Amino acid sequence: MIGIIGAMEVEVEQLLEHMQQTGSKTMSGICFHEGIMAGVECVVAQCGIGKVAAAVCTQTMIFLYQPQAVLFEGVAGGIGKDVHIGDLVVATSLVQHDMDTSALGDPVGYISALKEIFLPVPEKTVNLLADCAEAVYQGHVCKGVIATGDQFIADNAKMHQLAEDFGAVACEMEGGSMAQVCCMAGVNYAVLRSISDNGDDGAAVDFPTFAEESAHKNTALLLAALPKLAKQMENV
Ligand code: ADE
Repeated sequence: MIGIIGAMEVEVEQLLEHMQQTGSKTMSGICFHEGIMAGVECVVAQCGIGKVAAAVCTQTMIFLYQPQAVLFEGVAGGIGKDVHIGDLVVATSLVQHDMDTSALGDPVGYISALKEIFLPVPEKTVNLLADCAEAVYQGHVCKGVIATGDQFIADNAKMHQLAEDFGAVACEMEGGSMAQVCCMAGVNYAVLRSISDNGDDGAAVDFPTFAEESAHKNTALLLAALPKLAKQMENV
């Protein structure tokens, strides 16, 4: 079984339309939709915005379903001149930019529970998703570090800092948290984001304008990727 999580309704509504639902369970106030999508057994959940919501949802999903992999999908702020609204970003690794024990001598982003800053996605999973994305949206696909924090980034200076500190190409509010839970539980994970804004001074205007259109871009690509991802996970 593959688990798919999105934070907002626009990020999961189209996926649910493509799923033959066979049942559901509700726990921690989150509805887990069970069914078949593109011939693959899946569970889909909308977790709500932010790191705690994503952690609760991921842990509950793992507890209830023991998925072979959890995929987080949705929108993100693009970072840098090469990442545009409407582009797709596949995470090569996740970092929690607001995890900060630097006053104690640790580097910013250091997750003491895992003794890591960057939580990597296996290269073959990154390539699988990026190749599927490229087949649908040629020339608009980017692989790179995604920075997660409990903060909607709408500030040029902060956005540049995420690029400088972590080499981030996108920012969002859940992926790094999901990745930490998966690492702690020994479950595979990946993150796919479509760009709704640029995390800059214009982000608060761009986000509501483009979030729905961008979020829906993930659907076609996920439907193409799911059978391949399921096969890859069988051989992990
Ligand atoms: N998700 C979409 N755009 C974002 C931004 N600018 N900051 C954080 N999360 C986002």
